[in-house]
Amino acid sequence: MKKLFVFGLLACAFVACEKKSATTAMDAKVDSLLRVMTLEEKIGQLNLPSAGQFTTGQALNSDIAKKIEQGSVGGLFNIKGVAAIREMQQIAVEKSRLKIPLLFGMDVIHGYESVFPIPLGLSCTWDMQAIEQSARVAAQEASADGINWTFSPMVDIARDPRWGRISEGNGEDPYLASEIARAMVRGYQGTDLSAPNTIMSCTKHFALYGASEAGRDYNTVDMSRHRMYNDYLPPYKAAVEAGAGSMMASFNEIDGIPATANQWLLTDLLRKEWGFTGFVVSDYTGVSEMIAHGIGDLQEVSARAVAAGLDMDMVSEGLLTTLKKSVDEGKITEAQITQACRRILEAKFKLGLFDDPYRYCNEQRAKTEVFTSDNRATARKIAAQSFVLLRNEGNVLPLKKQGTIALVGPLVNTAVNMAGTWSVAARHAESVPLLSGLQKSVGTQARVVYAKGANLDADAVLEANATMFGKGLNRDNRSEAALREEAVRLARQSDVIVAALGESAEMSGEASSRVNIEIPQTQKDLLQALIATGKPVVLVLFTGRPLVLTEESKQVPAILNVWFGGSEAGDAIADVLFGEVNPSGKLTTTFPQHLGQVPIFYAHKNTGRPLTGKWFSKFQSNYLDVPNEPLYPFGFGLSYTTFSYGDVNLSATEMTARDTVTASIEVTNTGTRDGAEVVQLYIRDVVGSITRPVKELRGFEKVFLKAGEKKTVTFTISAHTLSFYNAELKWVAEPGDFEIQIGTNSQEVKTAKFALK
Ligand code: BGC
Repeated sequence: MKKLFVFGLLACAFVACEKKSATTAMDAKVDSLLRVMTLEEKIGQLNLPSAGQFTTGQALNSDIAKKIEQGSVGGLFNIKGVAAIREMQQIAVEKSRLKIPLLFGMDVIHGYESVFPIPLGLSCTWDMQAIEQSARVAAQEASADGINWTFSPMVDIARDPRWGRISEGNGEDPYLASEIARAMVRGYQGTDLSAPNTIMSCTKHFALYGASEAGRDYNTVDMSRHRMYNDYLPPYKAAVEAGAGSMMASFNEIDGIPATANQWLLTDLLRKEWGFTGFVVSDYTGVSEMIAHGIGDLQEVSARAVAAGLDMDMVSEGLLTTLKKSVDEGKITEAQITQACRRILEAKFKLGLFDDPYRYCNEQRAKTEVFTSDNRATARKIAAQSFVLLRNEGNVLPLKKQGTIALVGPLVNTAVNMAGTWSVAARHAESVPLLSGLQKSVGTQARVVYAKGANLDADAVLEANATMFGKGLNRDNRSEAALREEAVRLARQSDVIVAALGESAEMSGEASSRVNIEIPQTQKDLLQALIATGKPVVLVLFTGRPLVLTEESKQVPAILNVWFGGSEAGDAIADVLFGEVNPSGKLTTTFPQHLGQVPIFYAHKNTGRPLTGKWFSKFQSNYLDVPNEPLYPFGFGLSYTTFSYGDVNLSATEMTARDTVTASIEVTNTGTRDGAEVVQLYIRDVVGSITRPVKELRGFEKVFLKAGEKKTVTFTISAHTLSFYNAELKWVAEPGDFEIQIGTNSQEVKTAKFALK
């Protein structure tokens, strides 16, 4: 025992020593550079221009190439391909005075060329291993192709589905989103950032970007500190704790100061309170946008940003062009610039770029490790896990491979829309559309017939705006009625109709806010016409946000929400439609029954007048025209099998802050198919020093149960599980009564009570 202890101590000392010598080596390298760098060269490291896309050879004479040579560039992004990247790196390490290598960034958001579901879809897997693996594969591919830095994970909590970027995040819940943030950072960075197959992550958008007023992108954010700390900040903090190498400042303001120049945010909170040691980059033109925000001219906003703790300027060149003048005029000190430069150099050191600037430029790897059949198979498997079965009346699904299947809708045959938003490295033309996925799956067992049936939207201008970046849907110029008639004719001769409707890939994502979050009317008309044929209809819903599906939920027997499943979407959808994979996805954002309920989320406060009886109740907190309930609650998702829950068993009904209590529940697969279930633990803090939500997710476990099998799922509850940020923003667990709720979604739960003494 004693021996073990001594060995343990020695091992710890060894690790601490290794860490220290790594830091010392880093300090030595960075100090040696900083000693010889001119002020201009230091400022140059803070500059991150967008390369646009060069093909090999073109880059050499570009304006950017000249800047690299002058030492005016710290990193580049929007450049793809190992040859083009190598060429740029060569300029930096051969032609610039100090030979400092460049960072190469990219928005590798949900996969590189092998594309995984959009992050909102990925979050619906509730499978941290799968999520980590998706980031691992992305890092593997990106690093094989020259990239060493990704602008991901995006961990903005979003509770307003009008905001298009809800698609890029992990939903509405801080606990789940924090778990995902950790998994993503682990996946990208691994345990050794200098390994050639790991890349640096950049957590974004710091902070609160998802709470933009009215769901309009880039809009103002204004929020109480206690909501920030309890609901919006936890995922960023989790990423920092997981060792995220960099953070991206968000476009929005916080307390009247844009995040990009917000000293409280970038220094007091991020560095002093959370201990972040990496670097902070602005978002795209985030620095110069502060002119429009109205806090100064380019020189003023650039100096304010650096003084606040910003280290790198994406695209604005405000830092590059004004900081020297600001130093001369005494508006900022050289020491502040040195500090920012140090952080950029440290990142390069951590990535191993000083040892080998071409560490991520291995042509052989680029040929053999990208878009491999293994990676695509992983993407297909994870995509199938992300789909959420919202409705399945009469067990219309899974479909049988027989007879004639009519595939109808504008999303049926569009490879370029499968990957979803922010898939810049994707080979869109090679993504698997639903039509070919289904055809491959049925082979000669069934006949698949196809008609488009409707355009994305009757309004051609809206459709053009929602299908940018080469993601057009081949608009059909026949009348909407003619398109519909053709589809109905086909549907009448079929045994079952699969309608692939919803949004295009670019209808969500950046600058894609919507005030109407229903399926576009022309597609709804098509759906009505299909239902009127009397044939069974399955709605395969493509979307990047929660939609209002109130009508569809009454009229269509089966709804499978497939988000945007990535490069392998078509195959993955076929896997689920035909029951080769049993769906297990659960919603991570609430689906409202009416847009007027937005923002609607499960972890709301109780109010002083909660609706206690039946809707409608005068002088209680409810609406005249729609009940408070969502259409589909957080955590909801069906399966082809059924699960039943026993009662909650607590190991004790009281605990002290030093104890733990376990809460167990028996879950049984009561159906005839094997399947996975996400068992969810919610806790209600009944009385607090500040008002507390009606429930909060505090644990979950995804269990696989064979038909008829039972498992007991156990959660351990400690003081940490019960803690929150109080009015003084202290993380505390307050003595008192708690309600434990365990169930299949945030509404259907079994409860038990206990007290913290
Ligand atoms: C987005 C970021 C992205 C950046 C670089 C910005 O417009 O807000 O999420 O990382 O562009 O492409």
